[in-house]
Amino acid sequence: MREIDDALMHKVRSQFAQIDECPQQGPRVFFENAGGALTLNSVVQTSTDYAAVPDNQGRDNVGSHELVRVITKAKDDMREFMNAKGGQFFVGESGTELLFRLIMNACLGTAKGGKVLGSTLEHPATRSACDRWAGIAGQQHVLIEHDDATGTILAEAYAKAVTADTVVATILHTSPVTGMSVDVAACARAIRAVSPECVIIVDGIQHAAHGGMDLEHYDVDGYVISPYKVFSRHGFGVAWISDRLSSLPHNNLINGPEDNWEMGTRDTGSYATLSDVVGYFEWLGEQVGGGATRREKFAAAAEAIKTQETILTNAMINGTGNLRGLKDLDNVIIIGGVDNPAREGLVSMTVSGVPSVDVVKRLNNDGIRTHLRKADHYSGNILDPLGLDGCIRVSMCHYNSVQEVSKFLAIMNEAYG
Ligand SMILES: Cc1ncc(COP(=O)(O)O)c(C=O)c1O
Repeated sequence: MREIDDALMHKVRSQFAQIDECPQQGPRVFFENAGGALTLNSVVQTSTDYAAVPDNQGRDNVGSHELVRVITKAKDDMREFMNAKGGQFFVGESGTELLFRLIMNACLGTAKGGKVLGSTLEHPATRSACDRWAGIAGQQHVLIEHDDATGTILAEAYAKAVTADTVVATILHTSPVTGMSVDVAACARAIRAVSPECVIIVDGIQHAAHGGMDLEHYDVDGYVISPYKVFSRHGFGVAWISDRLSSLPHNNLINGPEDNWEMGTRDTGSYATLSDVVGYFEWLGEQVGGGATRREKFAAAAEAIKTQETILTNAMINGTGNLRGLKDLDNVIIIGGVDNPAREGLVSMTVSGVPSVDVVKRLNNDGIRTHLRKADHYSGNILDPLGLDGCIRVSMCHYNSVQEVSKFLAIMNEAYG
């Protein structure tokens, strides 16, 4: 088992901006990583450097050549990081915009009368896009119910629901509300067993910070991430699409390159930050024992991240030192169950008799940043079936420490124990 020890944790934390302090609040523990992970210092520097560049891509001058080199390198880095053999990477306005664009083109480019299959676990970005574009393309949008008890969905559920006329399918890699992951490769296999040509699109936005992506293994056609949730910054999203999805009709300039999915001039700085992110995962992999190849280092980093996040969620649920964990606080209910192997660094909970908004406020006042999820258009799909109008989302990342969990538990024990 690869672990992040104290000495390495110190090095890890020193690479992230605002890790201990918020410029507005002062010292605080950051357990709001599912709302946007911390930003690498290297990303902050890169963004500053590129903000000064006036040159555009595609000109015959040294400034322009450098921009093209940087974009090409970022795409190559992402290709290796996510193990994408074919297809292409491109950036868009946000994760939501890219999911809409991929799903729109997938629906419009496949057979009328077919089915578009997704699940109730999904973020509204995919559910809404499928709902709208299946309707416009003359297809039927079918939602498979997720499992309320475990807060996830199994491949068996896709296997039962998929039909030979399923032309598009969507899969959520990890839920930002329950924190539970989905076995994407198994779901894709179940779909392809019945509908081999189905265009499969994955929302990987909540999963990306946990590392360990393998597009070749998943055998899907689209995978979208939001860089601000994986140590880069706000303002753009990244998509990978297969050659098959690339070749479907899509918005493009007349007489422009046919396989271009990029819309207009790109922000080279945003691409450059992706190389910073990939470089960070590689560095972390080296620190925890690495391996000979870059892919082996990425795998080592993912394993260490998983180990650290499991240490954190176990401490939070079961207790640490003399502090009782959430499972032993009588009024606390943990969404998705106490012992759930699908959990990725996140614990969502409610406190009986106390509105979640008050718990989040109390934690905030005591310097712990968490987030209120309401049963609204973002989280109602998960909370409504549980009869909840809200919950407290506590989302961690590998750079969080057990000491930070102790601070959180001390407040929870005192206030709600
Ligand atoms: C799983 C998931 N999908 C989609 C989104 C939307 O991403 P973006 O904010 O980049 O549009 C989020 C953001 O919270 C998310 O967690």
